[in-house]
Amino acid sequence: MKDASKPQHHPGTRDSFGSSFGVLVALAGSAVGLGNLWRFPYLVGQNGGAAFILIYLIFVFLLGLPILLSEFIIGRRSQASARAAFKALAPGGHWGIAGVLAVLCCTLIISFYSVVGGWGCEYLFKSLCFDFTRGDGSDLENLFSSFSTSVWPPLICHTVFLAATAGIVISGVKNGIEKFSKVMMPVLFIIMVGIAIRSLTLEGAGAGITYLFHPDWSKVTANTFLAALGQAFFSLSLGSGMVITYGSYVKKDANILSLGAQTAAADTIFALIAGCAIMPAVFAFGISPSEGPGLVFITLPHIFGQLPLGGVIAIFFFLALLLAALTSSISVMEVIIAFVMEEFQMKRRPATILVFLVIWVLGCLCSLSLGVLGDWKVFGKNIFDLFDYVSANVLMLIGGLVVVVFVGWKLGRKEMHDELTNSGKLRIPNWVIDIMLVLLRFVAPAAILAIAVFQWI
Ligand code: PFF
Repeated sequence: MKDASKPQHHPGTRDSFGSSFGVLVALAGSAVGLGNLWRFPYLVGQNGGAAFILIYLIFVFLLGLPILLSEFIIGRRSQASARAAFKALAPGGHWGIAGVLAVLCCTLIISFYSVVGGWGCEYLFKSLCFDFTRGDGSDLENLFSSFSTSVWPPLICHTVFLAATAGIVISGVKNGIEKFSKVMMPVLFIIMVGIAIRSLTLEGAGAGITYLFHPDWSKVTANTFLAALGQAFFSLSLGSGMVITYGSYVKKDANILSLGAQTAAADTIFALIAGCAIMPAVFAFGISPSEGPGLVFITLPHIFGQLPLGGVIAIFFFLALLLAALTSSISVMEVIIAFVMEEFQMKRRPATILVFLVIWVLGCLCSLSLGVLGDWKVFGKNIFDLFDYVSANVLMLIGGLVVVVFVGWKLGRKEMHDELTNSGKLRIPNWVIDIMLVLLRFVAPAAILAIAVFQWI
């Protein structure tokens, strides 16, 4: 094996994060996104509340964290982007294919993510015009469906969102991604805590809290487990090459065990805060929590319309949604850009422009597939749903499986120990490594395979 402790590509010219705090906010920024503010609340609503949350938490810490650390190990050890990382650590094998799948996964994710991010832009604009506080709220469902299925408005919003993403990533890891995340993550946190406090103090909020924290096991089915694992992968950005890519920008003296644990904790805290911001309000207004994906874009505006100061809260909520989406979309785009730069020896600027153009076209197709291209179906799904399904339910699971097998079996205990302890400089008890090894070798592959097979048959 090559000396993987030295950078394998572009020695000396590779960008890197400036500080541990910068790494943490960038990783947390990637993890905290539409998955927390849009997907998590509606999945909680559809899957019966607290029981889903509990299963989700078990998956995050038992499976998600070891997988996240494995990706971290691969990225930091190789100092290379998704495909090159596998090739550097296991030269001559076919492991690099996993890196290509990760890049494909990110391409699909960002295509539909950017469309939803675009909706966030439109809804922020609408809330700035106090649109939700004017009418009686009866036409909000119509408003959302006529907007999202139309041609030009969502395309323009998708373009704005994607251009903003590219505008940050083009400045590089330290000057773009890290700087943006350092300012925006604390802002996001403050806004979400503020909204949660407002929601929790509404009359009738108690029912929402019971729903979030008092498990009703009768609602748990096999699908609850599927949804919880899929959400854990999506929310922690696992199996997509993101942690490998960001990990490759992390300095050799950083403590990746603690960074990984803090990232998982931050992501979980944000998801719970989002739950506390949304569910108590939903219950206080007597609305069903199982509205599905329209929860954030239909139900919430309806609530904002009736809430004292709701117009202002709407502005902050959609601003938070947009910031969360941006700190995630930059990480997805970075996976693709790092790959293009290293594989095709391109500079960051042309690579960003190329990636922007490709994703822009795919994103337009996703957006149009909700309206005029609705008849284009593959396996009975329109392009938007197909991209969502294939990335979150197929490619991320395959990516996660390959990563755990690679680190658990191919790299093994010594390399794991080396990377987690920074070659013996950090003290980490042996049992931590032993437990992680068991989780990676046996528990995680079995769980991922069982769940994947169950959902694919
Ligand atoms: N974790 C992000 C979210 O919860 O919205 C989504 C995501 C970001 C997935 C980055 C994959 C990724 F590489």
